[in-house]
Amino acid sequence: EDAARTRLGGAKLIVVANREPYIHNLRNGAVELMRPAGGLTTALDPVMRACGGTWVAHGSGSADRLSSDARGRVRVPPDDPSYTLRRVWLTPEQENGYYYGFANSSLWPLCHQVYHRPTFDPAHWAAYQEVNDLFAAAVLEEARGGPALVFVQDYHFALLPRLLKRARPDLVVAQFWHIPWPNPETFRVCPWAGELLDGMLGNDLLGFHIQYHCNNFLESVDRTVESRICRERFSVTRGGRTTRVRPFPISVDPDLAAEHLAGDWEAPVAALRRKYNLGDRLLLLGVDRVDYTKGIPERLRAVARLLDLHPGLAGRFHLVQLGAPSRTSLPEYRALTDEIHALAADINERYGTPDWRPVVFVNEHAGPELIYPLYRAAAGCVVSSLHDGMNLVAKEFVTARDDEQGVLVLSEFTGAARELTDAVLVNPFDVDRLANGLLAALTMPPAERQRRMRRMRAQVADHNIYRWAGTMLSEASKLMDHGPRPAAP
Ligand code: G6P
Repeated sequence: EDAARTRLGGAKLIVVANREPYIHNLRNGAVELMRPAGGLTTALDPVMRACGGTWVAHGSGSADRLSSDARGRVRVPPDDPSYTLRRVWLTPEQENGYYYGFANSSLWPLCHQVYHRPTFDPAHWAAYQEVNDLFAAAVLEEARGGPALVFVQDYHFALLPRLLKRARPDLVVAQFWHIPWPNPETFRVCPWAGELLDGMLGNDLLGFHIQYHCNNFLESVDRTVESRICRERFSVTRGGRTTRVRPFPISVDPDLAAEHLAGDWEAPVAALRRKYNLGDRLLLLGVDRVDYTKGIPERLRAVARLLDLHPGLAGRFHLVQLGAPSRTSLPEYRALTDEIHALAADINERYGTPDWRPVVFVNEHAGPELIYPLYRAAAGCVVSSLHDGMNLVAKEFVTARDDEQGVLVLSEFTGAARELTDAVLVNPFDVDRLANGLLAALTMPPAERQRRMRRMRAQVADHNIYRWAGTMLSEASKLMDHGPRPAAP
């Protein structure tokens, strides 16, 4: 922690993210630890372990209060305490309006542009403002008594940067937006577009995954709020304060794969093969939260199309789709889960036989101790998002292939497609191209697989999560005000 403080010019590092990296739940009277699914916590936990500091998050587990002190603080990870988790408690009404409401029914579909219409409810907006205020109070308390760099995560906290700066102009505030930023035509339908932009322009530094999202953001600012935009320097000045807007493509920790593949990694794969009667057939693997941005129905329909075009493949492979339940309080997420179950059953009925089911949908939360072995064992991994800021499953898969085999079938509408150009790139809306991608994963010659995988592995090894965090934090800490300079003699 001291080393990190030195790198940050003596400032304390405070990360703010809605999702906590460790969730304590009560199960059959015992406290059970859960690691949530989703790219954000997977990406940032290793950074916090290395840097130390405080992570402020929504305390969402049924045993979270039990496992933290009166302030909501607990040292994590439990087996190797390296940083502080500060939990903020929300009422069911606040969680409903802020998280399910404005964050996930307005901003999530608004920013992803996947033909899923966002809804805007003034009550949700009120809860979103209220929760941003609550987090501001918690952060200001954690930042008391010295310089601090506050690193805000994602679309749950568009208003937080401005609130922090208003109370403590000396804080350095940086934000990373983990999802896409839409074009200005799409963004302008939001009734509170101006307020969101004003909040985000409280940042000293604002990061998106790719340049395209930065451009969209600057154009949204240009059309919505009073400000001066410098396109050469990618910065916005409003009310005398400047926000720099830059791309920082997020990544993963390549060493995690080695950790999870160190022991007998074939055992969990064999257990899964037995459980679902997979024999020793080739595996195509999907790993996602069940979310309508991920293109899971499209992926299943491509399996059917593949079997229409190549009936000889019947009985030779399975698509194993791990689908972690996500945001299930929202009706559209429940409807999607039902749709996937029905589609899988339908395809299995039409194409399967009594001892071969082409699609296996595992609608459960799976941990890295199963996911990494499956990455390693699969013939191919399929990422068919309709729109995705980055997609870290694609990068994790690559880190797991120390055998330099395995084919990545990747939607061209992910941020990852800009870096992993050796993947088999597909348009998930084009069922024939997606089916052909699956075919490539099943039939690509080993030498070509190796050539592609080598290059992708080098890319992720080099552009890893530490580099992401290091670049963004050091750019932010350069903006730190080190007080008045001594007068020249
Ligand atoms: C995406 C978002 C993250 C979020 C994750 C999981 O990656 O950008 O902010 O944490 O999905 O979703 P959840 O709603 O469960 O936190």
